[in-house]
Amino acid sequence: MEALREARKNREVSEVKQRVAVYPGSFDPVTNGHLDLIERCAPLVDRLIVAVLRNAGKEPLFTTDERVEMLRQAVAHLGNVEVDSFDGLLVEYARRRGACLLLRGIRAISDYEYELQMALMNRRLAPEIETMFMMAGEAYSFLSSRLVKEVIALGGDVRGLVPPQVEAKLRERLPPRTSQAT
Ligand code: PNS
Repeated sequence: MEALREARKNREVSEVKQRVAVYPGSFDPVTNGHLDLIERCAPLVDRLIVAVLRNAGKEPLFTTDERVEMLRQAVAHLGNVEVDSFDGLLVEYARRRGACLLLRGIRAISDYEYELQMALMNRRLAPEIETMFMMAGEAYSFLSSRLVKEVIALGGDVRGLVPPQVEAKLRERLPPRTSQAT
């Protein structure tokens, strides 16, 4: 209880300073669903830091620098949004950046279990930092970076799902596979 009171006090102090939120993710690559969420959150906070996970453990299609650059281009019109990268524990990064909020997007119920686990673990590690879930517009409720890559690789149309410069990079990186005659 004492720890929680202390955490709330620290949060109040940081709220007086600036309300900083971190939106973490792989962003491999950024989609219009991510951008929709960024545009919804940016007016609610003083500063929104979009933080690209560096190591990922997975094998990203784009390097960290490429993912950061694509995001920077896509959010250039938003004055209080910054793009950065991080590795290690998310909450440690958020603390270093003075954030009181973590932003995560929820699309469908299927996202909820994983997101809840992460949010509760992050709360245990850093009780002074809250996780805020937001929903992108329903037009993006089916959208994921993984599906966009699959559709591009199979020669499909992803216009309207990613920014044009991201679509161009995807086409460069994933030329459509030609089907083999059997
Ligand atoms: O876009 P993603 O891949 O769903 O994002 C996942 C991300 C980056 C939010 C998550 O993997 C993360 O926070 N990684 C940092 C390491 C960490 O803090 N792990 C403990 C989280 S409970």
